[in-house]
Amino acid sequence: MSKILAFTNQKGGVGKTTSVANVGAGLARAGYKVLLIDLDPQANLTRGLGLEAPEYNVYGALLQEYDLKAYPVQENLGLVAGAPALSSFEKVKGDELDREYLLKDLLEPLHARCDYILLDCPPALGLITLNAYACADTLYIPVEAQLYATDGLEKVLEMVARVQRRLNPGLKIGGIFFTRFDGRKVLRRETAELIREKYPTLVLTSTVREAISLGEAPHLGQDIFRYAPASPGATDYQALVQEILTR
Ligand SMILES: Nc1ncnc2c1ncn2[C@@H]1O[C@H](COP(=O)(O)OP(=O)(O)O)[C@@H](O)[C@H]1O
Ligand SMILES: [Mg+2]
Repeated sequence: MSKILAFTNQKGGVGKTTSVANVGAGLARAGYKVLLIDLDPQANLTRGLGLEAPEYNVYGALLQEYDLKAYPVQENLGLVAGAPALSSFEKVKGDELDREYLLKDLLEPLHARCDYILLDCPPALGLITLNAYACADTLYIPVEAQLYATDGLEKVLEMVARVQRRLNPGLKIGGIFFTRFDGRKVLRRETAELIREKYPTLVLTSTVREAISLGEAPHLGQDIFRYAPASPGATDYQALVQEILTR
């Protein structure tokens, strides 16, 4: 039975996609069978792993136009592509009775074949994200320690509480972790401290530092372990993978 981990934050640019790509690659390297699902209409994960305009994507599968298709990325790692058309999901499926469970149904047959399914959520708390929350076991929330970071965080946590009451009582928060962290900036350090004080049990030990190679790797369609195995980015994501596996 696979575990579904969703990476979510309604804010864009906080490192959701980067984390899905690199935590996924790290888990695959550790020998787990991993499937990544790109749920963002921007499809950055899909492009960042080197797949340009693939024929099959998660949107078509959600609309039952074809079966779910995973493209191989590397050993133990597959990707279900995202597509710009995902932005119509809410309009097209918003009136259906089981609209929050469409992704859950779609992933059901995969449980026997993967150890981990990682969901890259869009930067919004709409129907796609609700579908992710409704089927996830655990949520991870990347946060950039910046002004207003707590606003976004509070919205996510409110939504999680609502989902736990109805759609998915078993949903757990695996943790909040800092991304793009630059300890030289006082404001960032202070914001991180504030968040740690406010959510002492939720903040993970692992922090992903701001690192140029993490921004470069997707341009070559690579994860950080392949692109720059000795870089701080690889070290930080390796530590995050370990924490996710042991926490
Ligand atoms: N730790 C990091 N250091 C440097 N750049 C990063 C880091 N994490 C993400 N980035 C870059 O920041 C941008 C936003 O990250 P991304 O993962 O796409 O965020 P999200 O999916 O939350 O919108 C991307 O250009 C990405 O390459
Ligand atoms: Mg993204």
